[in-house]
Amino acid sequence: MTKPDLMMLCPQRPAAMAQLDAAYRVHRWDLAPDKEAFLAQHGPACRALATNGHAPLTRQMLDLMPRLELVACSSAGFEGFDLATMAQRGIALTNSSPALCDDVADTAILLMLAARRGLVAADAWVRSGDWARKGPFPLQTSVAGSRLGVVGLGTIGQAIAERGAALGMQVSYWNRRDKGAQWRFVPDLVQLARESDTLVAIVAGGEGTRGLISAEVIDALGPQGLLVNVARGSVVDEEALIDALSSGRLGHAGLDVYASEPDPDPRLTSLPNTTLLPHHASATVQTRDAMAQTVVDNLAALFAGRELLTPVDLGAYLPG
Ligand code: DGY
Repeated sequence: MTKPDLMMLCPQRPAAMAQLDAAYRVHRWDLAPDKEAFLAQHGPACRALATNGHAPLTRQMLDLMPRLELVACSSAGFEGFDLATMAQRGIALTNSSPALCDDVADTAILLMLAARRGLVAADAWVRSGDWARKGPFPLQTSVAGSRLGVVGLGTIGQAIAERGAALGMQVSYWNRRDKGAQWRFVPDLVQLARESDTLVAIVAGGEGTRGLISAEVIDALGPQGLLVNVARGSVVDEEALIDALSSGRLGHAGLDVYASEPDPDPRLTSLPNTTLLPHHASATVQTRDAMAQTVVDNLAALFAGRELLTPVDLGAYLPG
């Protein structure tokens, strides 16, 4: 039996690659020297495409794949994709949010606790001998009993809210619409920031959320406030963030993502009131394997005529 053709824009984890190589004729666009010619040659045969959201998927590329039915994405984010064209052509999208939910939620909590307890500075205090020389490390701030605002109550936002509640925090959230969840819904983001000690951003990236965490939101969070961003750098007005952190109008930021990756703004990386990770929230062996497996499983579902496992509602990400 001939294997179905699969266009691959980004390689997947080894275990997933082995399964894909066994089941499909995999066309490695990522390795092709002339990418347009490669798509023109192999694109017409492909009903499916495997990629991740950090690679672009433009209208021109989609035009070269006229039979495309599914874009199977191994990341949660997909801000480089031309969703309007996909929706217009009825091309389905699957992503990996459920697979990375726990690790990303854990990372939000990790950044929050590290920032509130001064983990990075405390580690340096021990290593440098300051403990013996200068005495006890300064007292830090509890999270138990404090107020957590979750910006975006999707799958991962829910998991962050649950973890915050387990730490004894009072949880509220902002979302485009009331999710009817057990947490307090605050429809005004500035109000949520004003009523939070820690604000965690976990919304999808893209034009719809660009600059959502605005200067006004940052100022409402205030000098004792902590902003944690495990969403996308584009979600935060980074100029306003740097300004507020430098002047003390915002207390601290715990960041996994940046406007410019992998070379964040040096003004940000030189500030002492930041705790930083290199876009690593989902970066564990177990989770990256599980994310790649969602690609394998969704492709298998498509070709078996079964329901897709982790479909994305494109309509929710289109303007209007
Ligand atoms: C995602 O899945 O979108 C994460 O940012 C890792 O790529």
